[in-house]
Amino acid sequence: MADISFYTGEDIPLELHKVRIVQKLDLVPVERRAEAIREAGNNTFLLKNKDIFLDMLTDSGVNAMSDRQLAAMMIADDSYAGSATFTRLENKLEEIFGTKYFLPSHQGRAAENILAMTFVEKGSIIPMNYHFTTTKAHITRLGGSVVELITDEGVRLTSDNPFKGNFDLEKLEDLMKKEGKRIPFVRIEAGTNLIGGQPLSLENIISVADIAHKYKKLVVLDASLLQDNLYFIKTREESAKGLSIKDITKKIAEKMDIIYFSARKLGFARGGGISLHDRNLYLKMRELVPMFEGFLTYGGMSVREMEAMTVGLDETMDESVISQGPLFIKYMTDELVKLGVPVVTPAGGLGCHLDASRFIPHVRQEEYPAGALAAALYIAGGIRGMERGTISEQREEDGSEHLASVELLRLALPRRVFTLSQVKYAVDRIKWLYDHRDIVGGLRFVEEPSSLRFFFGRLEETSPWQDKLVKAFREDFKDSL
Ligand code: F0G
Repeated sequence: MADISFYTGEDIPLELHKVRIVQKLDLVPVERRAEAIREAGNNTFLLKNKDIFLDMLTDSGVNAMSDRQLAAMMIADDSYAGSATFTRLENKLEEIFGTKYFLPSHQGRAAENILAMTFVEKGSIIPMNYHFTTTKAHITRLGGSVVELITDEGVRLTSDNPFKGNFDLEKLEDLMKKEGKRIPFVRIEAGTNLIGGQPLSLENIISVADIAHKYKKLVVLDASLLQDNLYFIKTREESAKGLSIKDITKKIAEKMDIIYFSARKLGFARGGGISLHDRNLYLKMRELVPMFEGFLTYGGMSVREMEAMTVGLDETMDESVISQGPLFIKYMTDELVKLGVPVVTPAGGLGCHLDASRFIPHVRQEEYPAGALAAALYIAGGIRGMERGTISEQREEDGSEHLASVELLRLALPRRVFTLSQVKYAVDRIKWLYDHRDIVGGLRFVEEPSSLRFFFGRLEETSPWQDKLVKAFREDFKDSL
């Protein structure tokens, strides 16, 4: 989006695209919504799409595609081996990252599996700014552990720090000195998913790589949310203002040994992969691709998606394309701040994040405030968000609860999918819920899977608060949905 100002002074993001295909949405009545969330075990992952009005669960695999992407899908080459589609994708990655080699995987976590199987063993320590759920699960499954080195500012939910995803460089240096032997690589997650899509600065990324290389450690970039991070570097970092998005990408990529990504986010398509410069490292990981993903020239992806990804990666280098997500998120965040609703600031990438600890402070962390808020907002507006708090954590080995450092309800804004009036509706229902927050109570597990429990776990209300919420809604909205 370009910097287009309004004569009236209104400050809203202006879309630089037009909508050419639409999908009809339904908004079911509040009574049905209360029933649906119960059927789903109070877990928004288990809701059915027919019951959802605004699906803000994720930005993964649900971004709107461009006409150029759809056109490219028609020329995909389906050969099992040696497909021209693969070559086009490999070349595009070389153009933007400068990497010679590419290992395709069916999505981001499959790339994480390959990396973990290659480099992680029992006792390994993987330093990172912050963990992501699937990343951590792969590392711990193999007996490794994760050490988070985010700055203290990173987990401070209200802040004006533009780069809350940054590493604490002193902590990194200390860990390298103390535990260097156990560290196979340092992982940089740019932007940082679980703390509100917060970016790292270019300066911090380069310093992390320099420290890791000083200790002869590999540097691995999780570039799944890189498009938002690139936009933030360009617009928030003084020394990067004169650089193009392409220049910034190059400067980051040349410092990395390995770049992996979920193409469900980066590249507006579906899939994933690992890009790298070094042939020996490439050979080390290569045999795992045909074993777990598919042949080396598709890696479990559909070739159509690979064509869409190639074009999507090209479009990612266009600031007016990648600004849409961050600008809509900023609009939603700023409106909620104006209404006094507790949200993570500054606005990051991926989505707008409600701070459940301050939204419903009367719900104890052991009763999962972020999960309760997700259920409540679905009832209030048919809006599906994602719990990013204690439910998304794993229990400790002794079975005790691992309380999350932040309790967030993530409201993702898949790129180019929602209109501004839909965002305004979401803001309106969130404000209504905030004014009725005292009604919202906690949740407890009735079915708890032992790993990645947030996907399939089922919970129930700890007191009958949901019917009260429906009643309050009906008083204010009468015949309206
Ligand atoms: N790394 C990051 C930073 C991610 O956000 C994700 C996925 C992955 C890795 C795994 O990629 O889904 O393609 O296997 N994030 C999604 C989300 C699931 O909703 O935030 P994947």
